[in-house]
Amino acid sequence: MAKLVDNARLLRTRDTDFSGFCDMQELSNPGYRSKPIHHILEDYRKYGMPTTTIFFGDPLAFSLAREAILISPNTVNISSIGCSSGEEPYSFVAANLDLSDRVSVNGYDVNPNSIEKARKGKYNYGGEFFRDAGILPGTIYQADTEGLLTLSKSFKQLVTFQTHDISQEPLPEKQDIIFLLNVLQWYAALGREEALSNIRDSLSEKGMLICESRPVKPTGDISPYYWWMEDLTSFGFGTVPAKYGHSYDKPICTQAYYKL
Ligand SMILES: C[S@@+](CC[C@H](N)C(=O)[O-])C[C@H]1O[C@@H](n2cnc3c(N)ncnc32)[C@H](O)[C@@H]1O
Repeated sequence: MAKLVDNARLLRTRDTDFSGFCDMQELSNPGYRSKPIHHILEDYRKYGMPTTTIFFGDPLAFSLAREAILISPNTVNISSIGCSSGEEPYSFVAANLDLSDRVSVNGYDVNPNSIEKARKGKYNYGGEFFRDAGILPGTIYQADTEGLLTLSKSFKQLVTFQTHDISQEPLPEKQDIIFLLNVLQWYAALGREEALSNIRDSLSEKGMLICESRPVKPTGDISPYYWWMEDLTSFGFGTVPAKYGHSYDKPICTQAYYKL
């Protein structure tokens, strides 16, 4: 398969690319450095970037965005970069239907197959996630007894999707809010730098970036979601002040930054 991210030098390839994470793992799992991460990395370099995602995956990210929309006097452009098969932007819209005339929501991903799937809006799981979010079948989706979830045409029209590689260039239009969730951890320092520079250029003045941050060292969890994540204030972003400082009961939190 062709490499989905053109420039392989931007991706994580060696344990030194995520040495903070490995150092920490090594403490609790001696010998860790030579184990699973290399397999994960080998796979993603061979087969492409992992596309794992889920509906309603990060409620904190959604509430940060919602708060910002509520105080904005203008229509807000929101993008999910690395949207995979669309679950993230669709969930955001579904959870904020009351704001649908105040937002324009877009999904971007480097993987054209994921974008095609997102546009189709058919999934072989998901009904339970909508129901758990208090959204029943009807105008947004139908779920059959086999577990197939089909989004309605009118609902799909609330999100646009486009293939885009954020490590190569800024988005075609300025955004007020960008979700960048579960993406940066796959990149080496250089890749994160290039992606973040393009993201910064994609944001409107004082635009907001919402992504993971890892203010404390994680312990014992080997999910890539917990890989080392730097504070983005050295990349031309400021942190949104304390009232946004919620965190999960996990060694990671979702942080909102604004463009300086
Ligand atoms: C693990 S998924 C995360 C999906 C979703 N954001 C979530 O948190 O559930 C990572 C996604 O980022 C996409 N991605 C990776 N590098 C990218 C890039 N340079 N530009 C755009 N999308 C990228 C991958 O194709 C993949 O679909």
